[in-house]
Amino acid sequence: MDSPNEPIVQATDLVRKFGDRTVIDHLSFEIQRGETLVIMGGSGCGKSTLLRHIIGVMKPTSGSVKIFGEEITGLSERELDKVRRRFGMLFQSGALLASLTVGENVALPLAQHTDLNPGEIDEVVRQKLEIVGLTGFEKLKPAEISGGMKKRVGLARALALDPELLFSDEPTSGLDPIMTAVVDKLTLELTRERGMTAVVVTHDMTSAFRIATRMIMLDRGKIIAEGAPEEIRASPIAEVQQFINGEPDGPRPLNLSTGDHAQLAHVRPRPLVVARGRFQRKTP
Ligand SMILES: Nc1ncnc2c1ncn2[C@@H]1O[C@H](COP(=O)(O)OP(=O)(O)OP(=O)(O)O)[C@@H](O)[C@H]1O
Ligand SMILES: [Mg+2]
Repeated sequence: MDSPNEPIVQATDLVRKFGDRTVIDHLSFEIQRGETLVIMGGSGCGKSTLLRHIIGVMKPTSGSVKIFGEEITGLSERELDKVRRRFGMLFQSGALLASLTVGENVALPLAQHTDLNPGEIDEVVRQKLEIVGLTGFEKLKPAEISGGMKKRVGLARALALDPELLFSDEPTSGLDPIMTAVVDKLTLELTRERGMTAVVVTHDMTSAFRIATRMIMLDRGKIIAEGAPEEIRASPIAEVQQFINGEPDGPRPLNLSTGDHAQLAHVRPRPLVVARGRFQRKTP
């Protein structure tokens, strides 16, 4: 069904509206096998929503999404399950099940999609936790570990089935620089040495330029720039330069979507004054 020469992911004329807001606006792109595609863009511009559509968790208003050559927009949950066996997804929030231990969370896809026995599952769980630096944390509950650790458990779970395609939504947010480098190194090993395809949403430009073979920048639901890392670095587009250099002044207010900005444009924060050792708003 899917051939190595066709794109591993293909989105065509994808549109998603929430009410009358268009969050994904006639997007078309392809992802080739072996690529590490980094998706960038301001907070609220639609990156997570785009990933949810590519993996079939959300259905588009119109347009097509193919993974491994298969159109997924019309598939039932049961049919989607077969496709999901072949890719891993690290959600922005980690999306761990609170009632299960770390080990049980990582074991979930193995129990669902393989006929490994409990001993074999334990061994895979141990290996996957080891590669994200969490050896020995199997028995803890998500509430008992830090945010950055939850992220890494989510990554271990996404890698449990050794997927040929991995989607990661902000894999390094909340991680310290050393752990970020560890996760980036792992991504590089899996992609460059083992041929995995990776689609990574990130705001972390150090990490983005370390791992990307190609980059896409989204703005208001459209792709405004696309190219190899060096092309993005040299982009003449002001929004791209503002974003990759983290500049507060430029065409876009950082970290505010157009809608957020429009709503906040008239709000001027009142200056803070210190009164009796406490911060208070100065009345105008
Ligand atoms: N289920 C939903 N219902 C209504 N609006 C939604 C829904 N999901 C997302 N949105 C809207 O779509 C827009 C894009 O959200 P999304 O989470 O994709 O942004 P993002 O680019 O991932 O942002 P961040 O970098 O902060 O994670 C936001 O304005 C959000 O309010
Ligand atoms: Mg997001």
